[in-house]
Amino acid sequence: MNAWSQTTLDHRTVLVTGAAGYIGSHTVTELLRQGCRVVALDNYCNSSPEVYRRIEGLAGTTFAHVEADVRDGAALEKVLSNHDIDACIHFAALKSVSDSIIHPLRYLDNNVRGLLVLLRVLQRYHVHRFVFSSSATVYGDPVRVPVAESAVLNATSVYGATKLMGEDILRRLAAAPAELEETWRVAALRYFNPVGAHPSGQIGEEPLGIPNNLMPYVMQVAAGLRPKLSIFGGDYPTPDGTCVRDYIHIQDLVEGHLAALKHLLDGGASLTVNLGTGRGTSVRQLVETFVQVNGVTVPYEFAARRPGDVAQYFADPSRARELLGWQARHDLADMCRDAWRWQCSQPQNHA
Ligand code: NAD
Ligand code: UFG
Repeated sequence: MNAWSQTTLDHRTVLVTGAAGYIGSHTVTELLRQGCRVVALDNYCNSSPEVYRRIEGLAGTTFAHVEADVRDGAALEKVLSNHDIDACIHFAALKSVSDSIIHPLRYLDNNVRGLLVLLRVLQRYHVHRFVFSSSATVYGDPVRVPVAESAVLNATSVYGATKLMGEDILRRLAAAPAELEETWRVAALRYFNPVGAHPSGQIGEEPLGIPNNLMPYVMQVAAGLRPKLSIFGGDYPTPDGTCVRDYIHIQDLVEGHLAALKHLLDGGASLTVNLGTGRGTSVRQLVETFVQVNGVTVPYEFAARRPGDVAQYFADPSRARELLGWQARHDLADMCRDAWRWQCSQPQNHA
């Protein structure tokens, strides 16, 4: 956890949008565990309120949750008028790169208009501490690795563009002259590849349908739910020919959020930081580690490259360490072990 901040989350109230989703559910659990009051908001377009029961079990406490869309200003007004909110962590967004290319307006409306509606209501209720889910996808195909925050920004998908637009809106807001001494303080967090699950095995990622992402697919093959993994491309200019990414344990990612939140509540300045480990892992290395630490088999075959994939990127995480005192602690073996524990904990997740 952030070694520098003296701020505790005790008696603070945080509005978490997209709280029932993968990253939201893990973050809410940790916020509650640290004594924070949480108001969770989600429209369940990619999740279910079922997860709240499990979060409450893990945290040993209850919290307020509201079914609402972030584009519904009236519903947000109601939430803000009923709760004395100190800060907002905004996860609610649509996140499929391929879907965003097919449905650009849907993504722009949900992710960009959703952000604007939320910000207007927060402004009206004098809530100016804001943590935003951005993504390493804003770097496009980076010229060099590790990727620092100063790298050229170049979103190649509509999804990536919505994250860039979100960052831009927030940067302008934070730069605006203080009105009634109420300056926006924003933390834009650029996630690399979050994987794994809560170590209890009680919450994790629950993709609907066929998983797009590597780790959920590997888990389903290992569980016998799918016959084999297709590795998209074995001829990339990387050490073993498969794509290299920076996989980060979900619990480390959550700690990054709490460090950023405490920084803002402490009166810290707005910032944009990478949340990654700084280590690159190839698709083959991930599969081999998963097989080794969990004692399972994951049959795979090489398939054509997936359009839009970048050969390799991993983070330069030094700015997050300097500004937040945060760094990732878990290694790839932890990520694979915790992911598999979650997969095995649910009967329907096994053949
Ligand atoms: P997720 O789909 O599991 O969670 C997002 C949640 O937001 C879901 O519960 C969904 O129902 C909700 N939601 C979506 N649109 C909404 C709306 N208009 N109103 C209310 N709720 C809405 O996704 P996640 O992996 O937890 O991602 C959380 C955030 O992190 C997203 O902003 C995503 O773009 C970003 N991100 C994710 C990754 C990743 O690999 N998981 C990487 C980089 C950035
Ligand atoms: N891959 C396979 N087979 C699969 C699935 C994935 O070989 O069945 C490969 C991909 O080709 C890629 C690597 O595994 O080389 C990682 O793919 P993911 O889909 O897991 O992750 P991406 O790096 O493509 O993208 C993810 C999120 C984006 C986000 C980005 C950076 O899906 O939304 O990380 O945070 F923007």
